[in-house]
Amino acid sequence: MTSTVEIEVDGQPVPARTGASVAVALLESGRVAWRTTASGRPRGLFCGIGVCHDCTATVDGVPGVRTCVTTVAPGLRVATGGAP
Ligand code: FES
Repeated sequence: MTSTVEIEVDGQPVPARTGASVAVALLESGRVAWRTTASGRPRGLFCGIGVCHDCTATVDGVPGVRTCVTTVAPGLRVATGGAP
């Protein structure tokens, strides 16, 4: 049995598997892209290992956090749609 925690994404509660990355929680909630480039192209998970910075979001008020290398925690707040 997998345990879950609840995080907040853009003000909405989202269940996430304990130990999962924020990027995986976003994908499992149905999001495939959560920011756009300066030219308006969608970006989300790409490398998955913290190298490309395509997956960034604002996490607990900190902008530019790489969601693929950030582990979910109860009450963690994620804001998508940040600047490139
Ligand atoms: S997907 Fe490349 S840094 Fe997160």
